[in-house]
Amino acid sequence: MKGRIVVAVDGPAGSGKSSVSREVALKLGLTYIDSGALYRAVTWFYLERHGPLDAAIDFGSELGAIALTQDFLSDGTSITVVNGTDVSASIRDEAITRNIGVVSDAVPVRNFVNSLLRRWASSRSIIMDGRDIGTVVFPDADVKIYLDASVEVRALRRIKEYGEMGKTLDENEVKNLIIQRDTQDRSRPFGRLVRAEDAIYMDTSEMTRDEVIGEMCRIILDRRGADPSPRQDQSGS
Ligand code: CDP
Ligand code: CDP
Repeated sequence: MKGRIVVAVDGPAGSGKSSVSREVALKLGLTYIDSGALYRAVTWFYLERHGPLDAAIDFGSELGAIALTQDFLSDGTSITVVNGTDVSASIRDEAITRNIGVVSDAVPVRNFVNSLLRRWASSRSIIMDGRDIGTVVFPDADVKIYLDASVEVRALRRIKEYGEMGKTLDENEVKNLIIQRDTQDRSRPFGRLVRAEDAIYMDTSEMTRDEVIGEMCRIILDRRGADPSPRQDQSGS
């Protein structure tokens, strides 16, 4: 890959953003940055302080108390640390998902997360996934990809994912939760999920993960030319 490159991947929950972006990063020597993990980490901080969250909390006034860092490992994963605590596992808890909406709607929180994301991306070639990466965080990204899939397919993917961990989920319940999250992600006033005009749209409903990974690598290499350089473990702090 010639020079520094920024790849922005957006799309709704379950469209495959994190799993395929991580693999594309490994194949092309990019650093994968998961913006959702930052919103999850900030939510973890407020839950520890306040218990269940609501929109009446003044999230902006407490942001100064959050020291948030990520270590990017060579296997494509990362370790997220809040004020000295490794929260990488706890940010995946159901309680985080239930409370994250009011936190990621708060404009001061979005500004806080966006400035960290931009700082971490400033010195390396990256692929970053989220909802507003190609529109707000990196409107000048070299490559923008919008991943999509039908609600039905996204629900089945989640059910399969949990099934592999030994958990059985009700299809209708999963579908309704996805619809609810889509509505929340698409209707927030700032940083909402919207397809950037210059993003390449991929409907992955009929595509396997490997097909999506292959197509994304092809798009990125087409744009920037070959010769991927190896990525090294790096810290975002
Ligand atoms: O569960 P999933 O992988 O779909 O979500 P995530 O990427 O971990 O993000 C968790 C939540 O953070 C999402 O439901 C979004 O509402 C929010 N988010 C956001 O508002 N903006 C981003 N750039 C990334 C995530
Ligand atoms: O990050 P996001 O919420 O967009 O989705 P993900 O967590 O990467 O993917 C959700 C599930 O769908 C994972 O279990 C992926 O392995 C699976 N997946 C799939 O079956 N086919 C694809 N084309 C992409 C993802």
